[in-house]
Amino acid sequence: MPEAVCLKVPKKLGELAIRLVAELDLFNRNLQIHQTEGSLYIPLTVDLSYDAFSVFEKSLSKYELSVHNFVEREKRHLVPADFLADTLPPDLLVLIPRAIDFVGDIAIVEIPAELIDYKNAIGEAILKAHKHVSTVLAKSGAVEGIYRIRDFEVIAGDNKTATLYREYGCTYYVDVAKAYFSPRLSTEHNRVALAVKAGETVVDLFAGVGPFVVPIAKKHPNVKIYAVDVNPDAVAFLKRNVALNRAEKQVVPIVGDARQIVQEQLLGKADRVIMNLPETSLEFVDVACKALKPEGGIIHYYCFVNDSGPLKTAKTQLTQAVTQNKRQVKEFLLAKSVREVAPYTWQVVLDAKIQ
Ligand SMILES: C[S@@+](CC[C@H](N)C(=O)[O-])C[C@H]1O[C@@H](n2cnc3c(N)ncnc32)[C@H](O)[C@@H]1O
Repeated sequence: MPEAVCLKVPKKLGELAIRLVAELDLFNRNLQIHQTEGSLYIPLTVDLSYDAFSVFEKSLSKYELSVHNFVEREKRHLVPADFLADTLPPDLLVLIPRAIDFVGDIAIVEIPAELIDYKNAIGEAILKAHKHVSTVLAKSGAVEGIYRIRDFEVIAGDNKTATLYREYGCTYYVDVAKAYFSPRLSTEHNRVALAVKAGETVVDLFAGVGPFVVPIAKKHPNVKIYAVDVNPDAVAFLKRNVALNRAEKQVVPIVGDARQIVQEQLLGKADRVIMNLPETSLEFVDVACKALKPEGGIIHYYCFVNDSGPLKTAKTQLTQAVTQNKRQVKEFLLAKSVREVAPYTWQVVLDAKIQ
């Protein structure tokens, strides 16, 4: 227990004494205030100046300066707002984004309109609070277009959008400005990989840079995976990631539109189909049905639902679409909301056993 100079006061003067010590910037925040039945011991950072002395003399009817042993406080991890307390007024301080996506050494934030003038200061504060971060990107648009990518602005640190990212023992090279990637689905990537069985053939219709494909290949050496994406950059990163994780023998990367690729190369091949294109996956259920083996298999179906009963709605939509394609949903193995993507809009995943 470290020893420190302290201000000892009767308990009834405790609140006033703590306030005075804080105002004089003398409070030793690394140590815990000590209490006995009648007294409070407030640890101080430095020996007292004459001014501090006279404030205590004037304000406290009874006090003592002494030396005491104190328990150390647990160190709190500093957050970006801690570094901006002197820069931003309190009403803006509370708006500093708490949700930060970390992709390797890149931090991604959404800056609220009220804080636009402070975006670089916020970026610098994020660099200070998170020592492993070397670039801070602000989202400067929505996820858009067929490639599902968005624009970013570098607000602090190195001028880059590409990095290495590790997730459940797999390594990925990602460029968040060129191909879709979200660390928010990491649990799903791992869950689906664990569900795959030995000897299966898997088709990922919207594979991106490979966050479903790579862990499946790594966990199951005798599983073959066809990984399709329409974005040539995504497939270039996917190839690199497959090589980084030594899964070249199992993965067949294919650039192209999933509908056309299945029709030309993948009819009736799959035991399992992954469909992570939540905005429009319903329009591709026929493609997934065609990719499945004639005897059926499993579809991991991701969708967005803007509804108070998202799971029920998603199940009804998928069941109807599967039936229209002369297949049947035999059973839902799983139905869950993965995350809320906007007020009252959920990303839902269904694992459906199809006959
Ligand atoms: C939401 S991202 C998901 C990527 C990846 N599965 C993941 O979880 O990170 C959807 C991906 O589908 C691709 N895509 C969109 N339309 C497509 C289509 N018709 N055929 C193949 N890929 C498509 C986009 O380029 C994008 O990489």
